[in-house]
Amino acid sequence: MKKSQTPFEHIETHLLSKSQAEDEMLALKELLKQFDDAYYNQDDPQVDDAVYDTLRRRQKDLQLRFPTLVKTLNVHETVGSEPRTGLTKRTHLVPMLSLENAFNTTDFQNFINRIQRYLDLKSNDMENLSFVAEPKIDGLSINLVYEDGNLVQAITRGDGTIGEDVTENVKTISNIPIKLLKKAPEKIEIRGEVYISKQDFLILNEQQKQSHKRLFANPRNAAAGSLRQLDVEITRHRPLSLFVYAQGYSSQSVADTHEHFLKRLQEWGFQVNPLYRVIKNANQAEDFQQTIFTQRSSLSYDIDGVVYKVNDIHLQDRLGFVGRAPRWAIAWKFPAEKGITTLKKIEIQVGRTGTLTPVALLEPINIGGVIVTRATLHNEDEINRKDIRENDKVIVQRAGDVIPQIVQVDASSFKETRNLSFQFPHTCPICGAHAEKPTGEAARRCTGGLTCKAQIEERLIHFCSKNAFDIEGMGSKTVSTFFKAGFIHQPSDIFHLEAYRSEILRLEGWAELSLANLLSAIDQKRTVTLDRFIYALGIRHIGLVTAKLLAAYYNTYSIWKEQMMLACQIGSDARLALGSIEGIGPAVAEEITAFFSEKHNLNTLNDLEKVLHIESVESNTEGLLAGKTIVFTGTLSTMTRSEAKDIAERLGAKVTNSVSVKTDYIIEGVDGGSKAKKAKELGKTCLNEQEWRELIHYPPLD
Ligand code: IVH
Repeated sequence: MKKSQTPFEHIETHLLSKSQAEDEMLALKELLKQFDDAYYNQDDPQVDDAVYDTLRRRQKDLQLRFPTLVKTLNVHETVGSEPRTGLTKRTHLVPMLSLENAFNTTDFQNFINRIQRYLDLKSNDMENLSFVAEPKIDGLSINLVYEDGNLVQAITRGDGTIGEDVTENVKTISNIPIKLLKKAPEKIEIRGEVYISKQDFLILNEQQKQSHKRLFANPRNAAAGSLRQLDVEITRHRPLSLFVYAQGYSSQSVADTHEHFLKRLQEWGFQVNPLYRVIKNANQAEDFQQTIFTQRSSLSYDIDGVVYKVNDIHLQDRLGFVGRAPRWAIAWKFPAEKGITTLKKIEIQVGRTGTLTPVALLEPINIGGVIVTRATLHNEDEINRKDIRENDKVIVQRAGDVIPQIVQVDASSFKETRNLSFQFPHTCPICGAHAEKPTGEAARRCTGGLTCKAQIEERLIHFCSKNAFDIEGMGSKTVSTFFKAGFIHQPSDIFHLEAYRSEILRLEGWAELSLANLLSAIDQKRTVTLDRFIYALGIRHIGLVTAKLLAAYYNTYSIWKEQMMLACQIGSDARLALGSIEGIGPAVAEEITAFFSEKHNLNTLNDLEKVLHIESVESNTEGLLAGKTIVFTGTLSTMTRSEAKDIAERLGAKVTNSVSVKTDYIIEGVDGGSKAKKAKELGKTCLNEQEWRELIHYPPLD
């Protein structure tokens, strides 16, 4: 295929005037017509698939932004098989998780080491540890619900918690049993990957071409587009298949090992990938990785790595999850795809906490079917270490969904003269404030705080984002437009947007209906859970996990706020309590109290309180240890500290790392030391390991 650059300078659609948009839309129409003609009628493609897709996407963006022009210019085009809306949303019984990635043997060895540490496995236990290795199918994950052996629901992964109901579509896939062949638990969720074979993908695209329809970029997109169809008849004629590999909810235990589970799946009539193998250590994993990588091109379907799972289901249960990924599984991805291109310019972006992040603007390059135009450069040390300069040729790599990275400069392409080394700015490029780099830290940060427009804007974007308030229609572009237009300045302004109704309607791309949808989406988010609320504030170092810890500890917004204000006093009980929460380090405590010491942040909170209902995070009030505060000290012989902490929390307890009047139990292992002593002085109940196991209804020690 011949390569061609897109002929347009890429101006964000919201910055385009109507007449610029008109010119671009007409030109795009002409150009795409020409490319289609070359492709379909003359069998002589003029551009790369990915460039074509980029232009189509741009056309669609413009059509959405300037709907009135679509009619007047008669440029309406049907664009490919876009993900359809209109499917019913459904909640998975057990969330669908993602996997941590490994890229080399060290990552894999670290995965094993983490397991060994978490479970405190001795070397003879390690010899018994085994993993099932399965190819990682590059398709679309699906959750199948069976009741009394009958398929009752099929739901796409969605955001992991809620997906789309595609039951009728799935029933058309020939290798999915509608009725299980052998007895299974009364209710069970079976998970797997829907895919289209490489051969079928080519045939499908050939048919698409014959009928002058848009081609699919790759088999995964083809599988997704084929399954998520409102018209089941379309799905029926698409050659979809399924490999199954996991279980969600089950009313009954199915197997003791993953290997045995795979056998059960086969007995029930599912197709399990035949290449799976049991391995025992990193060396064997490395060999298997190599074997599968060598077979990759001859397989009839796309894979992008190998998934390794602890074989023993009992150990899987003990290992549990961290964040949204299991501790007991990892995806070892195949090497990233690379390409060489020119780094045109280094741009400095300012994040919501003021961090200056350098970004490489690249001459667009197609890497593995995706056009890459930007890559992260992390920080100034990284630029210096790799000696990256503007106008250098650089090696760029892209792995999965990870942001593209610059591996190194391509020294062989250096001409006699090279640009001077990049001078990292010592002032914020947006507000001009001094940008400081504290010793020992990698990042330089703008000290402008909320006088820096970039920080205000990024905080607003963060506030509306998926894991925070998740306001549909308030993506980064809309937030930026509203911020630049002066409609929103601080988070509570989002809930008063109604006041700018007529101004918004005057903006290109907005009409009564889209505005009504947005206002209703905002209204729906006036109730928020405490953990999301804390996360949405965008305090430095407070990610999702920490926000959850804080919410679980303080339970209600008013208690949290009151305690955080008290914690600003160094040495106060509230400060000690904050520092004693397991998982909250001194840096986190420092940042939260710094946030609460600023008057303008308190104003932000006061304004938000007026427009929101912040729901308490219920502690587990029914668990065995509900309402109890526990401190562990010393070493337990049958479980590690992390495992004991997870168990206690699952049962409703709060785990802290220092003894106080609030402590209910001290669990003392070997070498309990000073904490146990202090507990005794305070007259607290000290439990030994045996008593701890009794408390949580675990079998007694031998
Ligand atoms: S196991 C809790 N096994 O990869 C573990 N996942 O990056 C659940 N995938 O969302 C996943 N092949 O869609 C598992 N043999 C395999 C897989 C596989 C493909 C997908 C799956 C998952 C994603 C994680």
